[in-house]
Amino acid sequence: METLKWGIIGGGLMGREFASALGRWFALTGDVPPALLVAVCDLNPTARDWFKRVPGVTQITGEADELLANPDVDAVYVALPHNLHREFYVRTLQSGKDLLAEKPFGIDLEAAQFVCDEAKRLGRFVRCSSEMPFLPGAQRAWKMAQQLDVLGRVLEVRSGFLHSSDLDPNKAANWKRQNRFCGENGVLNDLGMHVAHVPLRLGWKPSRVYAQLQHGFGERPDGRGGMTVCDTWDNALLHCDVEIGGEVVPMRWETKRMAPTETNTWYFEVLGTKGGVRFSTKTPKTLFVFENGREQSWKAIDLGHASVFETVTGGIFEFGFPDSILQMLAAFACERAGVLGDRFGMATPDEAVASHQVWAAALQSHAEKRAIEVE
Ligand SMILES: NC(=O)c1ccc[n+]([C@@H]2O[C@H](COP(=O)([O-])OP(=O)(O)OC[C@H]3O[C@@H](n4cnc5c(N)ncnc54)[C@H](O)[C@@H]3O)[C@@H](O)[C@H]2O)c1
Repeated sequence: METLKWGIIGGGLMGREFASALGRWFALTGDVPPALLVAVCDLNPTARDWFKRVPGVTQITGEADELLANPDVDAVYVALPHNLHREFYVRTLQSGKDLLAEKPFGIDLEAAQFVCDEAKRLGRFVRCSSEMPFLPGAQRAWKMAQQLDVLGRVLEVRSGFLHSSDLDPNKAANWKRQNRFCGENGVLNDLGMHVAHVPLRLGWKPSRVYAQLQHGFGERPDGRGGMTVCDTWDNALLHCDVEIGGEVVPMRWETKRMAPTETNTWYFEVLGTKGGVRFSTKTPKTLFVFENGREQSWKAIDLGHASVFETVTGGIFEFGFPDSILQMLAAFACERAGVLGDRFGMATPDEAVASHQVWAAALQSHAEKRAIEVE
């Protein structure tokens, strides 16, 4: 298989994480195409300097056009603030490269739809980042959620991503706390794709939503001795209707930056009359399974490193966040090469657009204090 040669535009938090995952590519042992990072673009010289440590990188630049003109680059990972997604995603596609987009795939529904249409028009391979479903427990939960014969009548679905990053009022603001960079959807743009990916892949798109949105602290230190406005929604609780097995089922999507006791907790839970499943990164080794019997209880299954794409790591060892990024990138490389098979794939542009349709309905719901049909 041909080596997939990557460029990165945006070498910040996620750009570095992406490069680190590619640096461990040789740990993948299955039918995954080889991959290499060859080019990086960031406006910030300090961010660029970090990439000097990465073997194989032959181009480090502050000009995106230079990277996009590099014939050695096959696909570009764009990890920029949300207000830049549309412009840089479209520039990447128009330069003839494939695209690994960061969530939320455009600052709003209009941007997401435009990028999706442009990807289809140009015939490029495009996927959107959402790594948490690649954890072994999430994979097991996704598989069990497909088995309606095991679950019985589905009674309730819950999916969430919880941070506590905004509980400290003295934490300095960054672009993610300001609507003009993050988008009016606020925390939904930040954490929402993570919550939507598995339900959407199951075909569980909400038909109606009632949303409760909350602001955090209205001002924060700007990191330069002053204060700056923080106007994004910090917490969002979405009460949705979804059709599963011919029934309308309540589904709750929860994204929070102010969730006391939670650091980076992703969870997914389905409860049916006969069975249920729950996985949370709070207990990352444990899958909880419910089988209805005389007594009510969860069975706790101790998980190992049962990854979607095989690696050298022994089956009993623990799995972590960087592993989930490596797995997600392996899914991109395999799907692009046509060898994904029935394994779990990254979020598609259509799924990203569907998530934005829910966020648009959620904003309207909160403003009008009523449930809104999703487009
Ligand atoms: N998948 C995940 O788990 C996850 C986690 C965090 C962030 N994200 C997403 O990743 C994206 C980036 O977030 P981040 O936390 O890495 O942000 P960041 O602020 O850490 O990094 C962004 C980088 O982009 C650079 N940049 C800004 N404008 C540029 C331009 N015009 N040309 C080139 N470089 C430019 C900045 O200098 C900075 O280094 C966002 O879409 C965010 O939602 C995803």
